[in-house]
Amino acid sequence: MDAVFFGVVVLQVLTCALCFPNGAPASTCVDMMPRHGAIQPQPNPAPYTIQTSSTTFQPGQPITVVIKGPDYAGVLLEARSGSDTAALGTWQTPPSNTKFLLCSENPQGAITHANTNIKNNSTVYTWTPPASAKSIFFMATVAQQRSVFWVNVMSPTLTQSGGTSLDVYNSAERTAAPVLMLLVVLLANVQCLVA
Ligand SMILES: *[C@@H]1O[C@H](CO)[C@@H](O)[C@H](O)[C@H]1NC(C)=O
Ligand SMILES: *[C@@H]1O[C@H](CO)[C@@H](O)[C@H](O)[C@H]1NC(C)=O
Repeated sequence: MDAVFFGVVVLQVLTCALCFPNGAPASTCVDMMPRHGAIQPQPNPAPYTIQTSSTTFQPGQPITVVIKGPDYAGVLLEARSGSDTAALGTWQTPPSNTKFLLCSENPQGAITHANTNIKNNSTVYTWTPPASAKSIFFMATVAQQRSVFWVNVMSPTLTQSGGTSLDVYNSAERTAAPVLMLLVVLLANVQCLVA
């Protein structure tokens, strides 16, 4: 299915990576394909990988994301889940030379380049997970120059860790209660012995 979708997109779209030097337009949120000119994406695998600060996430706890590889000029970065094309979560203050892109009705739903200045593996993006997703991955389009770009650059999948903090508290409480009871009983016994 993904291969078919990819094939259709590749065949159908006439492309040009940096005909939008000020960032990808909102119309690219779903296919993440630069659309201008007749330039095709570079074949995958891309020379880029997406590294994250963690392989798990908790709602509301920010994750940092780096696109490792050669210097790049253009980028479109989204978090997704499964085969859904919705952009998930909320990106935090964009690093230099990048900006937010409104995707999935979220003004901070994606990140794109703000200009063609160099971005590199010191460019760190910060993303806050939504409450709903159980697992996500990051997906990027990365352009070195207007005619040289890769699509479908993906991170490994990140899974939501544990439950909510409330669940964690409750399970800690469940464990703590018998332990406390035992302590009280032991202390009472010690007191009897001492008295
Ligand atoms: C980071 O970028 C520099 C400069 O392009 C490169 O030499 C280095 O190998 C990169 N590091 C990683 C981990 O990709
Ligand atoms: C990344 O680019 C910035 C700005 O161009 C530069 O100062 C920095 O040294 C570069 N870092 C790497 C790892 O290449």
